[in-house]
Amino acid sequence: MSSKPDAHDPLSPCEPCSSDAERNVGAAPGREEDAWHFKPAGLERPLHSGLRYEPGSFGDILKGAWAIEVARWLLASSQPLSCLDPFAGCETYAATDGTRGRAAKLGRGAWVRAQAPFLARGQVASTGRLLCETAIGMGAALELAVFDADPDRLATWKASSLSVRDDRVSPIDARQAIEHAEPSSDAASAMGRVKVEIIDASDGAHLIGDSEADLVFVDPYDFFDRADELVPRVLAQRRRSQVLVYLHNRAPRGGGHARAYARLREKLELDGGPFLIGRVPSDAVLPRSWHEVLLLGPSPPPPSVRSALERETKGITCKLATSGAFEDISRPTDNPEQGGSRSR
Ligand SMILES: C[S@@+](CC[C@H](N)C(=O)[O-])C[C@H]1O[C@@H](n2cnc3c(N)ncnc32)[C@H](O)[C@@H]1O
Repeated sequence: MSSKPDAHDPLSPCEPCSSDAERNVGAAPGREEDAWHFKPAGLERPLHSGLRYEPGSFGDILKGAWAIEVARWLLASSQPLSCLDPFAGCETYAATDGTRGRAAKLGRGAWVRAQAPFLARGQVASTGRLLCETAIGMGAALELAVFDADPDRLATWKASSLSVRDDRVSPIDARQAIEHAEPSSDAASAMGRVKVEIIDASDGAHLIGDSEADLVFVDPYDFFDRADELVPRVLAQRRRSQVLVYLHNRAPRGGGHARAYARLREKLELDGGPFLIGRVPSDAVLPRSWHEVLLLGPSPPPPSVRSALERETKGITCKLATSGAFEDISRPTDNPEQGGSRSR
């Protein structure tokens, strides 16, 4: 029997993702046609159009799990917790078979638990929406300020039941309705304890550095494209806030990517910490990159939170790494235990 990785197996290398990612090795920064993509072909529903990755990828799972654990920690002592998500994407996305499969195979963990009600409705919640859900689940107060340079994605937040805008998009037009989350009917949000505010800005990066938010989430497409601008902003912001950064670390591809990652590490280490890093491979077999999250702040999380972050990250990494650890690519006739004999 062949147990060759299946291209449709969410823990196997995803052919379109891998080939897309590979195609972009050495891409010239700033050229859209050369920019990296990490999204299976065919994921072009209206609000996914132009999105350069698959919502619900292992990167999303990692950043979502960290965001949930960090929010739980901060909400225990600070309410309303003020959060800033200047690259917020959509409030929710349409779930793909790949995302459903990843959730089923992982089977547990903070992200899987939090996404269950969304997946049941054919949706995947963004990380920002997971922050809101964390507070709703705790009966806690949270204020999330969001921005996205894409007006259609930002409009999904304006349409949110959690939005405090006077000019909430209503009725939601058909284009958005496809992806839009049904309002949470939870009592905490009904009582207005969890609120989303839409920020007017021209660039999410400009909001980072002197924000008064308790938690700032930095999730641009490619941190390394703008690292010279973003690193000083993140290091300034971490003096007063917990800052959670997503990085697509392509160092395994060598050359410039490895040097860019090394430069970032040097700057972080010079700054002195504390910072934590979580890392999961991009693919089960032959990972060509890593999904990484950095957590930086004025003080480190307590040991219980640190352990939760470590447990979540290792849980994802173990599942992904071990699923690619052993392969049997023989045909049934190659395996004598299955009654076959090799005919030549
Ligand atoms: C990786 S996605 C964000 C995903 C989102 N944080 C989530 O968890 O679902 C990056 C987003 O940044 C937005 N974006 C790109 N350049 C931007 C800019 N200069 N300012 C704000 N948003 C930007 C894109 O439209 C895209 O939605």
